[in-house]
Amino acid sequence: MNAVAVESRLQARLDALAAVTEPGEGVTRPSFGPLEREAHALVSDWAREDGARVETDAAGNTVLIYGEGEPYLLLGSHLDTVPAGGRFDGTVGVLAGMEAAAQVAGELELGVRVVAFSAEEGARFGRPCLGSELATGASPAGLLDRLRDAAGDSINDVARATGLTPEACEPWLRAPAVAAYLEVHIEQGLVLEHERVRLGVVDVIAGADRLAIELTGYAQHSGTTPMAGRRDALAAAAEIVLDVERVGREARHGVATIGRLDVGPNSPTTVPGSVRAVVDVRDVDAGRQRASVEAVRAAIDAVAERRGTPATVTSLASRAPVMLSAWPRRALTAACADAQLPYRVLPSGAGHDAAVVAHTAPAALLFVPTPNGRSHAPDEACRTEDIAAACVVLAGALRRLDDDAAGAAALPDPEQEG
Ligand code: GLV
Ligand code: MN
Ligand code: MN
Repeated sequence: MNAVAVESRLQARLDALAAVTEPGEGVTRPSFGPLEREAHALVSDWAREDGARVETDAAGNTVLIYGEGEPYLLLGSHLDTVPAGGRFDGTVGVLAGMEAAAQVAGELELGVRVVAFSAEEGARFGRPCLGSELATGASPAGLLDRLRDAAGDSINDVARATGLTPEACEPWLRAPAVAAYLEVHIEQGLVLEHERVRLGVVDVIAGADRLAIELTGYAQHSGTTPMAGRRDALAAAAEIVLDVERVGREARHGVATIGRLDVGPNSPTTVPGSVRAVVDVRDVDAGRQRASVEAVRAAIDAVAERRGTPATVTSLASRAPVMLSAWPRRALTAACADAQLPYRVLPSGAGHDAAVVAHTAPAALLFVPTPNGRSHAPDEACRTEDIAAACVVLAGALRRLDDDAAGAAALPDPEQEG
């Protein structure tokens, strides 16, 4: 397929997936919800049209099998979104993977598959990469009943409503069956745009801690309760928001955010009696990440003590930074050079399924630019020609990995040689 045809097919598929959304601004396809399933069904139909076979595991990870056999090269990303998110986050990696797999499957010795992971976004349950954790066997015991969304429904409740049984998911994603995993993703930042390069090869993916805070104040009439002696849970939360911002600023290359507050009773005429919040701490340095989490915990305790608003803090997720594997990374950089596409090596501040997969199989991550760096927002953008360039590089990297694997298989087995 020529470049123009690839771009127009990518465009049509991006448009079709963007239409699978809750009403409102941007794209909203909540993790483990029916719209996420609808998006998975759509890509499955397209893959079947390309001649691929489709399998879905109990956690709803959809595997599109373009080239049978093991070991196999795996491509992919996710199809869920944050509320009022963009049309490219995740989607680009699944669609680019499908293009590259369709192009090279017939040529390779290794098998080729594309996975659309379920539930990558941490927005709904506070913890990201649930599908890839289940596929790799990294999901902690009890998590699926423990984590709940804003409506109070557990992961298991929500997933069962769409016919999935994540607790029954048998881990399947690991070496040696999976020779390597390659993910394409929008950068969601400004480095590539500022440096005017079309592709980025990621070396390290930032670690992330998510802490759920529950602050308990005392709900009272806002007109009759004197200012002195109030136990206002929202005023306490406001201080904590600023403390978290300070911790993020002091971390230099790290970040810290409170992106969500649920206020109870959330009424204009009642002193807030309770607040639930989620803190998101990220860093590419594991030591600094731990130090920031400690500083956030200390700030929460200090505010809670001083204001008489007791706080409980629960860890929803704690993932260390991940160095990606050299072998598939080299295949990506060599394929960029082959295609005469300048690239830049850079870290990823956002989390990605590749960080989870990297624990069980060699994994690499290729970025395409995000104009204005805006993501997790309705006006998230990405140029189709950049996605098409990523498809060329992916296809080249798959060929190189296949050649390398054939070369390694041809070497004498040291065990047999004695
Ligand atoms: C993924 O989207 C993240 O929040 O890092
Ligand atoms: Mn994503
Ligand atoms: Mn995202």
